[in-house]
Amino acid sequence: AEGLHPPSYPFPQKTLLGTFDHASIRRGFQVFKEVCAACHSLDLVHWRNLVDVAYTEEEVRAMAEEYEYRDGPDDKGEMFDRPGKLTDPIPRPYPNEEAARAANAGALPPDLSLITKARHGGVDYIYALLTGYSDPPPGVEVREGLNYNPYFPGGAIAMAQNIFDGVVEYEDGTPNTASQITKDVVTFLNWAAEPELDERKKMGLKAVLLFSMLTAVSLWVKRNRWQSLK
Ligand code: HEM
Repeated sequence: AEGLHPPSYPFPQKTLLGTFDHASIRRGFQVFKEVCAACHSLDLVHWRNLVDVAYTEEEVRAMAEEYEYRDGPDDKGEMFDRPGKLTDPIPRPYPNEEAARAANAGALPPDLSLITKARHGGVDYIYALLTGYSDPPPGVEVREGLNYNPYFPGGAIAMAQNIFDGVVEYEDGTPNTASQITKDVVTFLNWAAEPELDERKKMGLKAVLLFSMLTAVSLWVKRNRWQSLK
């Protein structure tokens, strides 16, 4: 069965000229790091991608250094661990699919890099899914280890509810309600999947302005040139 159709939420980046809310991307990465990263990878995002988008270079370096990366071989042919650098990818929670499934009762947490583009309904679906957990309605049975969620196709999802009021503490004073936290992480995931969105909107606006001017000029030239033949 298909999942319930999600409502349309007013994310600014969905509108014709709207761009991402970068303070929200910043908070959303914090949510990803503190909550989702325990189970989900984000293979297409590297630390350096966050620089000047949501954090300063210094902040990103400091965050990367909190993780150990396996590197090598060194001069003696040995592998070694070193702190993360800007060029490293966001670390994965599990070494491979088997380990990921073993930790999640057989289910595989998908990589979230492109999830807002990969799922029908995009950001609206992800937002509705993350906030859509409830007890199953009377008469609906959910298998042991699965959770009722009407937005997930089939209605029973292996991922349990992760976002609750207060699950992260924001440094910028934004209220940490479940809906705010969800909005922020969904904004972050949308940026991860479409990092060029802001630039695309700006170029689109420039192109429309430029071509309107060129059209106006060419109409004027045409009238001017044909005038003598009227
Ligand atoms: C699936 C997001 C945290 C385990 C998913 C899906 C999304 C998602 C979008 C795909 C749903 C679909 O296939 O349509 C998130 C976000 C998180 C988060 C944004 C943080 C706020 C977690 C955590 C765990 C987890 C902490 C493990 C404890 C899973 C699993 C699936 C899944 C096992 C596969 C579900 C299934 O196919 O039945 N998650 N997740 N997730 N997630 Fe998460």
